[in-house]
Amino acid sequence: MKGQDSSLALSVIGAGHVGLVTAACLAHAGHHLVVVENDPGRLEMLRQHPTRMPIHEPGLAEMVERVMRAGPGSLRFTDRIPDAVADSEAAFICVGTPQGERGEANLYYVERVAAEAADALVENGRPDFVLIEKSTVPVRTGEAVRRTVERVLARRGRPDLRFEVVSNPEFLSEGTALKDFLFPDRIVAGVESPRGEVLLRRIYEPVLSGRFDWTGTRPSKHPVLLVTDVQSAELIKHASNSFLALKISYINAMANVCERSGADVREVARGMGLDPRIGPSFLRAGVGFGGYCFPKDVAAFRRLSEELGYRFDLLGQILEINDGQRRLAVEKLRKALWNLRGKTVAVWGLTFKPETEDLRGSPSLEIIGRLLDEGARVRAYDPAAGPLPNGLEERVARAASAAECAHGADAIVLVTEWPEFLGLTDEELKAVQARMNYPVFLDGRNAFDPARLRSLGFEYLGIGVR
Ligand code: UGA
Repeated sequence: MKGQDSSLALSVIGAGHVGLVTAACLAHAGHHLVVVENDPGRLEMLRQHPTRMPIHEPGLAEMVERVMRAGPGSLRFTDRIPDAVADSEAAFICVGTPQGERGEANLYYVERVAAEAADALVENGRPDFVLIEKSTVPVRTGEAVRRTVERVLARRGRPDLRFEVVSNPEFLSEGTALKDFLFPDRIVAGVESPRGEVLLRRIYEPVLSGRFDWTGTRPSKHPVLLVTDVQSAELIKHASNSFLALKISYINAMANVCERSGADVREVARGMGLDPRIGPSFLRAGVGFGGYCFPKDVAAFRRLSEELGYRFDLLGQILEINDGQRRLAVEKLRKALWNLRGKTVAVWGLTFKPETEDLRGSPSLEIIGRLLDEGARVRAYDPAAGPLPNGLEERVARAASAAECAHGADAIVLVTEWPEFLGLTDEELKAVQARMNYPVFLDGRNAFDPARLRSLGFEYLGIGVR
């Protein structure tokens, strides 16, 4: 792909999950990328061992290796925004937007990048630069970025330097981020002028036309490039994440109704999902959503709507139902074991979903915290998770396997549906059951067939299942 006339010089500011995936995929698609990272440790790691990624994302290290092998200049790392501005036509802003005290997104890093980029535009006398928001930001951040850059340009006597702000939200899921980037359903481009649209079309041309090779299934349909104004693009991201979270909370609320009415939420979800207007995805009931995105984004959107003068109470309910699912898991264990105090609970799965080592917002951590508060002993096993945060590591015994974790326990609670758990054979599960003190199995993801576990001797409990 390299050396084609269509390749562009681009930069990515922030070598986090989104930044690294964006940079690797765009370099793989034939562009030349400069990545700016201001954390010295992370930068050193990327410079010295570019293929040893600071984040866990399947395929990313291989892709970076391939890009690096294809030729010098495809992908390089720096800590200087001025280098990025000098050597590229457009910069993707991929810095973090952590959650503030009242749920709002903290845009300090976005503002700082905008101001530094503006300084660099002045120093390079660079017109027509494009700043592309990729981080999840509240609606109207584009306007704020524009104002920040304009102020710096005015202060430094170069108000004549034209630039454009584009919103190009990411829709990457952890664990499938490469596929999500290279084979998306849609690419959203919120632009200020036709120039922004032309640039985004050029950047994504290899993705839009599917003109590159990478492992994995190539969908038959080409993605849609949706061009909108900046605010609408920003809102599409909020609206999409909140709607997906809503689907999960809706089916979890249904699970509660199912439990009280004798129905089975898996059947209800199947029946709902067959209606193409609803669709089957994100209707898996369980202990609720976690991760860095949904809990933070829904809270930020709620806060933002309030600031805009609209009380979007539905968003609050999404979060309340989600919290309730964690409490429900503990209640179910309490009901099954009578007293939790002094009981040993084996927790299967710590990460917020399978195929990641990310513990942020993980339902497991909340459930473990509650179990410990009630005096239970907790033993946990996860195939990928590192040390637990918030002082939990010292309070939780870590096992080396699912079977060891359950040995002598009074209950198992499955919180993350890792394939390793789902792949256990009847013999292996039977052996697990035989070595438990009480064979209570709380399936927090409705991942197992209840009849199968019951036939193996477990006291099976699901979420809204019979
Ligand atoms: C999510 C979105 O799916 C991406 O489209 C978006 O780009 C990303 O956030 C982001 O804003 O950056 P991610 O947080 O990686 O991606 O994870 P998901 O696969 O969406 O799962 C989120 C949580 O929902 C997990 O805890 C999962 O177990 C839970 N979930 C998902 C359910 O409880 N039920 C379901 O039916 C589906």
